[in-house]
Amino acid sequence: MINICSPQSPPIVRSITELRALTGAWRAADQRVALVPTMGALHEGHLSLVHLARRQASKVIVSLFVNPAQFGPGEDFQSYPRDEALDAQILAAVGCDLLYAPSPAAIYPPGFVTTVTVGGLTDFMEGATRPGHFSGVTTVVAKLIIQCAPDVAVFGEKDYQQLQIIRRLAADLDLPVEIIAGPIARDPDGLALSSRNAYLTPQQRTIAPTLNRALQVAARAMAVGVPAPVAEADARRILEVAGFDAVDYIEARSADTLERLAGVVSVPARLLAAARLGRVRLLDNAPI
Ligand code: PAJ
Repeated sequence: MINICSPQSPPIVRSITELRALTGAWRAADQRVALVPTMGALHEGHLSLVHLARRQASKVIVSLFVNPAQFGPGEDFQSYPRDEALDAQILAAVGCDLLYAPSPAAIYPPGFVTTVTVGGLTDFMEGATRPGHFSGVTTVVAKLIIQCAPDVAVFGEKDYQQLQIIRRLAADLDLPVEIIAGPIARDPDGLALSSRNAYLTPQQRTIAPTLNRALQVAARAMAVGVPAPVAEADARRILEVAGFDAVDYIEARSADTLERLAGVVSVPARLLAAARLGRVRLLDNAPI
């Protein structure tokens, strides 16, 4: 549960001019700046990243932009939960120095035709299920980093493939920013927090924590030498028996390059999964 106790909301800035005026003053005063990009509908997972950002920098910017370019046709762009006033209140309580909620024109000005695409890492898992999704993510993240010019930018391990793609983006484009990862925040029963959990029916909500349990079981099995395909198949079966409607993927991959691992896992690795309960798609992952 999020406690809202402070009435003092951070300044909300919508234009690049205002943003640069404020952040320029910080930089002139040698303040270290952190950015936490979000699409709003803030929960404890987002707030854990804000706390992490606070420990890295003296000024924290949270950006809030529901980015149309990363939603596919038939996805939930229109219905994505939006409550900026509540998000601003929540941020006031955790200590955020600036809420950057750009107008659509600040991100996609008239005539906008440039896309930033990361190759390779975007071809599988989320990239295969959601064509064009990652180009939308990397384009907006590149723009947010260029606009806010933070010293550090913080992303969650919840979206592990996204995190590795953003690391690659920053390295390949020499973006002068350090990318920092925060661990997955979970409900007490293990379900990874997500803005989309709100779509689960009470019945689906009882099934949902099985995703994390199946990942933990399979990751432990791989850690003691069970070959990846065997443990993956077992985890898939656990999800199907629990009542998941579809398992989009459950794959052991190298922790940094996301290369697919077959056989016994002998390098730092991550087990990643996406599974559906009705129209809700849940993502989760676990270290091996
Ligand atoms: P959004 O889904 O709002 O997530 C914002 C950040 O919060 C991401 O870095 C995500 O990985 C992190 N996050 C979400 N749930 C989390 C949890 N349970 N524990 C820890 N971190 C969690 O991801 C996006 O927005 C967008 O793609 C964005 C990067 C903002 C670009 O539009």
